[in-house]
Amino acid sequence: MNGTATLWWNKEAGSLCYIDQTSLPEKYRVVECRSVGRLVKAIGRLEIRGAPALGVAGAYGVALAAHVCPKKNIDAFLSDVSRDAEILRVTRPTAVNLGWGIDRVLQKIASADSITSARLLALGEAEAIAHEDTACCHAIGQKGADLLHDKTTLLTHCNAGALACSSWGTALGVVRSAIESGKKVNVFACETRPLLQGSRLTAWELIRDGIDVTVITDSAAAYLMRKHIIDAVLVGADRITRDVVFNKIGTYMHAVCARYHDIPFYVAAPLSTFDKQKREQDVIIEERNREEVTRMGIRCVVPDAARVKNYAFDATPMDLVTAIITERGVLHAPVNIDSVLSMKNIR
Ligand code: MRU
Repeated sequence: MNGTATLWWNKEAGSLCYIDQTSLPEKYRVVECRSVGRLVKAIGRLEIRGAPALGVAGAYGVALAAHVCPKKNIDAFLSDVSRDAEILRVTRPTAVNLGWGIDRVLQKIASADSITSARLLALGEAEAIAHEDTACCHAIGQKGADLLHDKTTLLTHCNAGALACSSWGTALGVVRSAIESGKKVNVFACETRPLLQGSRLTAWELIRDGIDVTVITDSAAAYLMRKHIIDAVLVGADRITRDVVFNKIGTYMHAVCARYHDIPFYVAAPLSTFDKQKREQDVIIEERNREEVTRMGIRCVVPDAARVKNYAFDATPMDLVTAIITERGVLHAPVNIDSVLSMKNIR
């Protein structure tokens, strides 16, 4: 299966390269990003997206800020890099990984005694985060694969695949690992209105890897469950607090339907997605612009006078979750995240 990275550092050019996810599936396009301003735009437009990939992008973003920041005394240099990091941090408020990746690199360079060493430390830490993310996805994949039956039909929402991570994927990493271990898995991908991460990205990367995928409209999911077509729901997460799982808008609806139909609802996420400090009410749910809803290509599909609410994420109460699959192990219902929060590297 394809091990291509989603984003990587180009040492010769001193730039951050990434697959532009807004161009898929029509066009595979790699962008070379040379400034923090361009990276802020890329994250805001969802050229780079998905919680773990945002963590890696945040880390490389600080390395990029350090790389392009002009030479001066070390204190002024670190203060300029921190200012750029804060601009990056607020581009997307819901996924916890973005701030987590930024903070890891900032902490690494905080005590650097020269600009050269700060730049090297920043890049080294960003590369480590990218490699760890891939390793986490493989571990999640193997642990999640054990939960699946030999022949399984999964429903997934949004894209929690290689494109949303450094590579391999969380939810789709489970699919890949299960198939590698000889299981027969096929996937129903909800299209995921309004930006269609399911139909554009999940379908694209599964087809690239020769995995059986069927795209459905978001509103078809409940009926497929009623028809006994779906064996389990498997999604990623943007932030996991003690009380809820934040993920793409529509996830909560699938969890409610899964419970009604007695279907397991699984969440696959690395420990970097856990947030022990906040609860549901403390987290900002990103609201995006109305045009994402009112326009379909060049067509306007909503009257100008209509109000639009465009929440990018929702929150699923923990009691609807059958299990959370992490790189360290599976948390079964009743899910209590304190058991993983005591492990190191957790916020
Ligand atoms: O708005 P997006 O596309 O960044 O939202 C992404 C999701 O909701 C994913 O499901 C989540 O980040 C998990 S990715 C492994």
